[in-house]
Amino acid sequence: MKFGYFDDQNREYVITRPDTPLPWINYLGCQAYFGIISNTAGGYSFYRDARLRRLTRYRYNNVPLDFGGRYVYLRDNESKEFWSPSWQPTRHELKDYSCRHGMGYTVIGSTFTGIESHTRYFVPLDENLEIWQVTVTNRRATKASLSGFASIEFCLWDAQDDATNFQRNFNTGQVEVEDGVIYHKTEYRERRNHFAYFACSEPGRFDTQREAFLGRYRAWDNPAAVEAGELTNSIAHGWSPIGAHQVKLELEPGETRQVVFVLGYHENPVDQKFDPPGSQIVNKNTVKPVIARYLDSKQADAAFERLRAYWQTTLGVFQVNTPDIHTNRMVNIWNAYQCMATFNMSRSASFYESGIGRGLGFRDSNQDLLGFVHMVPSRARERILDLAATQLPSGGAYHQYQPLTKRGNNDIGGGFNDDPHWLIVGVSAYLKETGDWSILDEPVQYDNEPGSEQPLYEHLQRSFNYTLARVGPHGLPLIGRADWNDCLNLNCFSDTPGQSFQTTTNKDGKVAESVFIAGLFVYAGRELAAIADRIGLGVEAATYLAEANKMEEVINRHGWDGEWFLRAYDDFGHKIGSKECEEGKIFIESNGWCALAGIGLEDGKAQSAMDAVAAHLATKHGIVVQQPAYSKYYLELGEISSYPPGYKENAGIFCHVNPWVMIGETRLGRGDAAHDYYSRINPSAREEIGDLHRCEPYVYAQMIAGKDAPTFGEAKNSWLTGTAAWNYYAIVQWILGVRTSLDGLEIAPVIPKSWPGFTATRTFRGVVYKIAIERRGEGNSVALTVDGEAVEGNVVHAPTDRRKEVVVKGILS
Ligand code: BGC
Ligand code: NOJ
Repeated sequence: MKFGYFDDQNREYVITRPDTPLPWINYLGCQAYFGIISNTAGGYSFYRDARLRRLTRYRYNNVPLDFGGRYVYLRDNESKEFWSPSWQPTRHELKDYSCRHGMGYTVIGSTFTGIESHTRYFVPLDENLEIWQVTVTNRRATKASLSGFASIEFCLWDAQDDATNFQRNFNTGQVEVEDGVIYHKTEYRERRNHFAYFACSEPGRFDTQREAFLGRYRAWDNPAAVEAGELTNSIAHGWSPIGAHQVKLELEPGETRQVVFVLGYHENPVDQKFDPPGSQIVNKNTVKPVIARYLDSKQADAAFERLRAYWQTTLGVFQVNTPDIHTNRMVNIWNAYQCMATFNMSRSASFYESGIGRGLGFRDSNQDLLGFVHMVPSRARERILDLAATQLPSGGAYHQYQPLTKRGNNDIGGGFNDDPHWLIVGVSAYLKETGDWSILDEPVQYDNEPGSEQPLYEHLQRSFNYTLARVGPHGLPLIGRADWNDCLNLNCFSDTPGQSFQTTTNKDGKVAESVFIAGLFVYAGRELAAIADRIGLGVEAATYLAEANKMEEVINRHGWDGEWFLRAYDDFGHKIGSKECEEGKIFIESNGWCALAGIGLEDGKAQSAMDAVAAHLATKHGIVVQQPAYSKYYLELGEISSYPPGYKENAGIFCHVNPWVMIGETRLGRGDAAHDYYSRINPSAREEIGDLHRCEPYVYAQMIAGKDAPTFGEAKNSWLTGTAAWNYYAIVQWILGVRTSLDGLEIAPVIPKSWPGFTATRTFRGVVYKIAIERRGEGNSVALTVDGEAVEGNVVHAPTDRRKEVVVKGILS
């Protein structure tokens, strides 16, 4: 069953009924001001940090689902009936409801009793505000006398504190209203130099006190002031400040009016907070022109056109045309778009991660670069340097940092022993994309400690050495708190309810080893060797290679189970992911990763591992983490066995790691298998089973319930997941084989046998490559011509003249 359709021409997904199985959301903003918005206008906004700088409230896990947002109400002043054109919160039966989620904007609208209304929500580029353009048309034969209302609920900045510290919070709320603009200035009187505002293009009444607007014991679906048809001009003192505006709409038959609302965030220099100086009144001198500008419909339209152009350019860096519509649509539009969101927010904000719990993950953000770096390399550069600055002198890393402070998060700390290697992966992706070797010389602090600056290259060395100094009894890397699989907590041994599996450690950590980290080490070591080699450090390069080769031997000796790669050794030295195990005999991570890293390609291990994955882990909805699922809690394994079978890391389909197998398959030259796995979890290809899948058909979800779960096939936690970057990377760089390398653009497609080929456009290091691949045989060997000239191998080097456009033809046979 479908709840809408793709409008690929406009790069939109159009939802045609409001009661989607879950809120189907979109992200607004792509720089510093962000919001999430559901198909029924639910959601919240924040500046840089979903926890520390939250502008508006949103209550998770609420009943009904998805309550609190950017609500518009219309009221017919004759019949006194009022409704929400976005369905929520009043949930009237609407005509022609639609929600168009596009690139950085959302338009929601409908018709009710002959009144048509649409609201376009977006965040203009380079501004810390969002615009709501509400357009109302009278489709009746008679004049309509209406009132329009718009409302939001302010958050008192720190979303965690806001939801818990009521003894303080009920006293601190403060607002000002000047020239009809509502300013939210809680804590501005003391240490904050920022405030929020909510403005309306038309004069009218307002409310800023929640109780005055909603009435006692009432909710957003039935605000007393809307029912009465008149806001009360209330001023909030403490309790819950809100922003609500009311405008009059007298519409002749056929007449259309647009009202613009602007919700924004503004900072003043600390010594210019008040105007007049010495008063307690917010200095509005610099914000007023901004507000005035965007309340103007024409300016708002122009800002919207700039946003459209921005996405046209950003997505234009890579566009493809294959025989598969789902591939095209995800690669050209939605998957790339999702990569922007994961880059910006890591895992910190969404409908499911309350936006409170997590900052930017070290491993997460490094991996996110794989799908993002080509779009805005300068921002990838900045991110790499921020991440590296949170690295610890030991080479280890804080697991997360807060985007606002850019400092490592002490609550979670470090000790996830895979973390440091992802920095090598991220930097390598950046170098391959840009050829900007200067980044390696950038002085970067350790643990944000002034004076500790060392070139970024040294950070990579320390990442590598971190593992060399931490190997276990078999010579494999010690796992620490966990590796990529956060829930394989082999030193935790927690029997106390409520303890964090991630931060509890009851063992000294000297025994439990990870085959996955071993594979990652081999991969990272070879990447680092290639980097060292290019910057003239041949001796160091040789050392990295030697260590990587040594680790590969250890994997062959102690990490191979006969048919597949083992997953780990626990604190007793027992195998995990072996045929000897009762449950959890085979895992995806070590098998996918080792094949991806090229381990066992020559001696048949990689092929055997991929065949075993196909036989034991692959399902029609994707590849599960392990089999058999853990049927009970194992003290020595940690969180993984805490989940009921089929969910999350306990044999769920963790979509993030499926691409490792896809890439593994391409390394074996098996394009059919690779693309088949790709299609099983491709959200667009799952659109028809929307009532089972439940999450949005335009973005990846973190997990699809595995075959052991009663809800097999049901997706959860969409949007902010490493799945976005990895699937993008797998399809673009390994299946389509348009791959960045240190030397140039490599063309090495491993596509399905049935494809006659594909065409693509790729802007790479300032040159546009027009690529056409034609299949003439069933294999993967490629004969290339560049601007008509045959070239050796499959790397297209940068033109030596001033050509800005290059035609690349590849014949597959
Ligand atoms: C989840 C993991 C997640 C971890 C850290 C666990 O409960 O299952 O997927 O990475 O928490 O937030
Ligand atoms: C989600 C986390 O953000 C990611 O870092 C981790 O690798 C996966 N869960 C798997 O546990």
